[in-house]
Amino acid sequence: MCGIVAYIGSKQALPILIGGLRRLEYRGYDSAGLAVFENGQPCLVKAVGKIDNLSEKLKNQSFDSTFGIAHTRWATHGGVTEPNTHPHTDCTGNIVLAHNGIIENYRELKESLGSNHRYTSETDSEVLAHLIEKEYTGDLRQAVLSALGQVRGTYGLAIMHKDHPGTLVCARMGSPLVIGLGENEYFVASDATPMLAYTKNVIFLEDGEVAEIKRTDMHIVNLKDQQVAKKVSKIEWDEASAQKQGFAHFMLKEIFDQPTVLQDAIRGRFKLADGTAHLGGLNMSEPEMREIKRIVLIACGTASYAAMAGKYMFERLAGIPVEVDVASEFRYRDPIIDNQTLVFGISQSGETADTLAALKEAKRKGAFVRGIVNVVGSTIARETDGGTYIHAGPELAVASTKAFTNMTAILLLYALQFGRLNKLSVATGQRLLAALTEIPEKMKLILQQSDKIKELAEKYKNARDFLFLGRGVNFPVALEGSLKLKEISYIHSEAVPGGEMKHGPIALLSPEFPVFAIMTKNQLYDKMRSNIEEVKARKAPIILIATEGDLGAADLAQDVIYVPPTMELLEPLLNTLPLQLFAYHMAVALGRDVDRPRNLAKSVTVE
Ligand code: AGP
Repeated sequence: MCGIVAYIGSKQALPILIGGLRRLEYRGYDSAGLAVFENGQPCLVKAVGKIDNLSEKLKNQSFDSTFGIAHTRWATHGGVTEPNTHPHTDCTGNIVLAHNGIIENYRELKESLGSNHRYTSETDSEVLAHLIEKEYTGDLRQAVLSALGQVRGTYGLAIMHKDHPGTLVCARMGSPLVIGLGENEYFVASDATPMLAYTKNVIFLEDGEVAEIKRTDMHIVNLKDQQVAKKVSKIEWDEASAQKQGFAHFMLKEIFDQPTVLQDAIRGRFKLADGTAHLGGLNMSEPEMREIKRIVLIACGTASYAAMAGKYMFERLAGIPVEVDVASEFRYRDPIIDNQTLVFGISQSGETADTLAALKEAKRKGAFVRGIVNVVGSTIARETDGGTYIHAGPELAVASTKAFTNMTAILLLYALQFGRLNKLSVATGQRLLAALTEIPEKMKLILQQSDKIKELAEKYKNARDFLFLGRGVNFPVALEGSLKLKEISYIHSEAVPGGEMKHGPIALLSPEFPVFAIMTKNQLYDKMRSNIEEVKARKAPIILIATEGDLGAADLAQDVIYVPPTMELLEPLLNTLPLQLFAYHMAVALGRDVDRPRNLAKSVTVE
């Protein structure tokens, strides 16, 4: 939910901290602050709003410090104010702390600290600084360990102390922290992006680990202060791939990334000759796979719509019953889970608190629990007993796009892998895989229509409402298109299955209430056509997604976006793209902050 950056070494800390915050702004951008060690003590600068505001404040100040911590905030406790901006300090100002997460028992801790502590913010995080102050008797790491032993909740922490100008202490529980290893210098951040320009050798802190970092060495302990051995990983992403590469927004770059990253998702993961997929990360033997009687797909938001598409794929190809659950509901509904249930947690960030908690519940109840995530080394990736990285590369826009299509492709491969263990024929498997390998080129044909869709957005930008319609595997696509539009353009929109419209939503329709419908050539085409006739009879403007060559579509709608044909189960990989582009161009036409829409954050690491 928030972003943390820290540096200790021989370079000037300030540019590294500010540059790092900019790369983490997608994690939250209500306010930002930093602390550097200057003239023997911590010096703090904070600003409400985007990183630019903080940068502006720093313009007339110069710091030679080679050690500092920084934070960009997405408010969870306490409003968006400068006092609530991190880093926070204790009463003495000697302890400075940046925190990502939620201290669930901060009220009790505040009580236990008594009335002689003076607070300057409304945040839970500041209480932690005072708790460390109470525990501090000269050894910073010991004070942090003692304090954390009293804490319930989640944290990613970076802490400095006036008496320890060469020591940075970091800790993680539930909120990610990555340590970058340089030459006599260390970088710490909520993900690897801020350090890629300096080092690709990283260590992922695990839950319950505390790192004490000095310029020339570092050691990592658990909460019992026992040394922990860690392996160094090498990040494959380069700095450039995390930048916009010439596109106006990260979201547009990531929409156009899809043909490439879809190939990354499927490469080496199927065997055309056998007509099957091979996702080794599943970490299950074939007999274990055959024993699976039910599959549960758990996710939030866009990932939950990929899961819904996956349901159609698994049930059609593998004949296995599939339930899709939004994570925040699953964990509280006493789910029926046993050791013949396979639960997938699907998440771009791999840090979504609701999804993580739901997976822990499924694991506790004895299910096979696997992850389908994008961010390497993320918490869900490490909490599950296997799974598959979707290889979509950094997705920095708050609105998820390429992660959706890659998640869907991985779910298709899993459905194929299970299907070929059951009754699915080689021939069908080969047809599916052949069609899948054609998708990237077909995606490019759709992306070439971006300017045409931009014109469409100009035409509809003053609409106050939108209804999205889809049937079968295209209903999750309609849901995703609706979410994209509402979350970045702020236009109210909703999605219903085509056949459901006549049971109520049709009352909404009027010439002022446009409808975006998916009417591609598949087994439900005729049914969908009738639904659109119903819409037309109410004189609502209609935009259609139709299959190339379907000239009848033009009789039904003022505007038609044609997409190449493909097998029905693969249609989400194509039909979603026009909806992503439409939402993007609508948001741009309305002057919205496309990559950082209001009230949202890229990774929701609080429940
Ligand atoms: C997607 O556009 C949204 N920003 C949001 O629904 C997101 O998909 C959801 O929060 C789940 O995130 P995750 O995939 O990182 O778990």
